[in-house]
Amino acid sequence: MDTAARLQAPESLPASWYGDPALWQRERRAIYGASWNLIARADQLAEPGSYVAHDVAGWPVFVLRGRDGALRAFHNVCRHRAAAMVPDGEGRCDVLRCRYHGWLYDHEGRLRKTPDFGAEIDLDAFGLIPVRVETWRGFAFVCLDDATPPLATWLGSIDERAKRYPLERMKFHQALTIDLGVNWKTYGDNYAEGYHVPTIHPDLNRAIRMATYEVECAVEEGVQVHRAAAAGGGTSGLWLWKFPGLFFNIYDWGMSLVRLEPLDQGRSQLVYWYLFTDDSPETRSRRDEMMRWSLTIVDEDKQICREVQRNLDAGVYATGRLSPVMETGVIQFQDWVRAKLA
Ligand code: FES
Ligand SMILES: [Fe+2]
Repeated sequence: MDTAARLQAPESLPASWYGDPALWQRERRAIYGASWNLIARADQLAEPGSYVAHDVAGWPVFVLRGRDGALRAFHNVCRHRAAAMVPDGEGRCDVLRCRYHGWLYDHEGRLRKTPDFGAEIDLDAFGLIPVRVETWRGFAFVCLDDATPPLATWLGSIDERAKRYPLERMKFHQALTIDLGVNWKTYGDNYAEGYHVPTIHPDLNRAIRMATYEVECAVEEGVQVHRAAAAGGGTSGLWLWKFPGLFFNIYDWGMSLVRLEPLDQGRSQLVYWYLFTDDSPETRSRRDEMMRWSLTIVDEDKQICREVQRNLDAGVYATGRLSPVMETGVIQFQDWVRAKLA
């Protein structure tokens, strides 16, 4: 690299941004709270009364298929004394009865009964607090901010790019949650570049032709596209990232749909959904092999991210420089973070 290019290597985010509780409180509102968050698959919400409850950046929420067939989402909090309405995970409920003192809500979130309460209250004023919910190609998303554009607009070119893949026909195989133990941006930085592939991911490095690895930046705000050609007929990939934490890793055999979920300033997790185009028993071993392959890569990333986080927390490293050639995706990711917090 010549000197001029080196001089343009921008500064990375300060280390203090990767462990500051106050900054995390701003991020959860300005970034995750203002985004659409994937919460459920169509197969989990097929029946009336089926629900999925999940934490979205510190807000417990649930999405429910009502008796009338409509999908609704609510904050998972009873208006009496704040107990959870449904347990985390997926399940069925014929009625929404709070398990703490038995307040009863209907599937539209209206408060119906307050057993033995002993006083009149305005039932209409104490309904469950609604959350926006929309679906895209068989997946349900929730959003906590009224100002955020509709889901289709928010997804931007992801819709067009994923069009040629049969997402609806892919069969759900398995979900895995991976505890990263790092600030969510430490993982974001890592995902945003292929610079580390030859050094950290020997198998992946053999499977793809690194010379073809490219990160398409400046597509539009919040979308990054990574792609690489397969080496010698192996698995080729299209990797779509919707900021802040939704990844579509699409292959010829199916996809992993991944959520990067921050838990607080120092912890985050990855939730992997593996979906396969062919779920016949004959291809079972191939599916297991694909998952092993993918989990090896995740594990390699987790180890290096933990090392990085330990040093970011240690207080000797303040900031570094990003390569204008190899880390354009990181530069863009960090610019998005700065812009959302400005
Ligand atoms: S907290 Fe729900 S009924 Fe009391
Ligand atoms: Fe990696």
